[in-house]
Amino acid sequence: MKGKKIIIGVTGGIAAYKTAHLIREFIKAGAEVKVLMTEAAKEFITPLTLATLSKNPVLTDFFNAENGDWNSHVDLGLWADAMVIAPATANTLAKMNHGIADNLLLTSYLSAKCPIFFAPAMDLDMYQHPATQQNITNLINRGHTCIDADSGELASGLIGKGRMAEPIVIFNEVNFFFSKTQSLAGKNILITAGPTHELIDPVRFIGNYSSGKMGYALAEECKKRGAEVILVSGPVSIEKPNGITTINITSAKEMFDACMHYFPKTDIAIMNAAVADYTPVRTSDKKIKRKADDNDLYIELKPTKDIAAELGNLKKESQILIGFALETDNEEKNAAGKLEKKKLDFVVLNSLQDKGAGFGHNTNKISILFKDNNIKKFELKSKAEVAIDIVDEIEKIVSDK
Ligand code: CTP
Repeated sequence: MKGKKIIIGVTGGIAAYKTAHLIREFIKAGAEVKVLMTEAAKEFITPLTLATLSKNPVLTDFFNAENGDWNSHVDLGLWADAMVIAPATANTLAKMNHGIADNLLLTSYLSAKCPIFFAPAMDLDMYQHPATQQNITNLINRGHTCIDADSGELASGLIGKGRMAEPIVIFNEVNFFFSKTQSLAGKNILITAGPTHELIDPVRFIGNYSSGKMGYALAEECKKRGAEVILVSGPVSIEKPNGITTINITSAKEMFDACMHYFPKTDIAIMNAAVADYTPVRTSDKKIKRKADDNDLYIELKPTKDIAAELGNLKKESQILIGFALETDNEEKNAAGKLEKKKLDFVVLNSLQDKGAGFGHNTNKISILFKDNNIKKFELKSKAEVAIDIVDEIEKIVSDK
């Protein structure tokens, strides 16, 4: 962060008082800060406070009314290494999305060539409104980073999502951007996640307990490192991640088709999904009724295609293929078998015998088995941290290629 030039854009929300702390974090870390305020922001915190903290005059107007000095938004846009808009009100988000340029903050935004970060802050109904959500999505799709609002008590007294993220969280996100090299920039990464559902009839399916959390955490981590991520997801109850192309599928067959479609343009494929190994031979188009004679019912199953193994066969020298193995017994032996059979570069082993590992948990405990029989064991960690460990190992392979 030392020497980085940061524009902090402050818009008119009660959270503007927290921006004082945000500026201090940047200054403490050695960054150079220039603050741009909208007129409305000045109602919530004084320019004097922010000028003192940032050690630079605060800019609001296109020119200084007293001496006619021109505040060039073009120069500001070129000067900055990052622009952080915090708080970003619903009004400013809408204007950013539509390219409206009616104040210095917005003209500077339109002129900026640097990465843009924004921290929404507003009342919960405004936040949830489809217009605001669409604006946020569009800005993220434009490549900007949203430091999402927190849930809690809002200035209105209502409780819900809309509170600006804490200054330290915003600072960490920007700091992370600068500290982490965009090590996977230019890489196309295909990730499978979640379970598959194999339909028996219109109301029943064969499935499993996979929550998709690990696969989604991997997708987020790869995106953070600059990769283009395609996430092929089975049915899960996780919100669609921003900035990641998510292909929703139901069955193993659909997951297979999606993977075959994207694999030729993929540099790295991470097969995290818990794919059904068998699917009903027939899917009834009507609900299967209980038999009048009370006899047993048999559902005939046929094997699905092993997606990881198929990709392993198609894999070119330049492509990297990572698999997972969830085991209950003979863990390392079984995982090593999968590594070889599916021609994986490494396999991530979860054992259901480890507390806190596997389906549904927010934590995971993994071992990674490599082609040279090396095994690396990790502690129990959050799935986001496990994703960092896994992607670090992938990066090592990328740099060795
Ligand atoms: N996998 C896959 N397609 C399948 C089954 C599994 O792509 N039809 C992938 C999983 O995403 C995982 C790896 O293969 O990366 C191992 O999955 P797992 O279910 O543990 O192993 P299986 O090969 O299905 O073997 P088994 O169920 O007998 O343990």
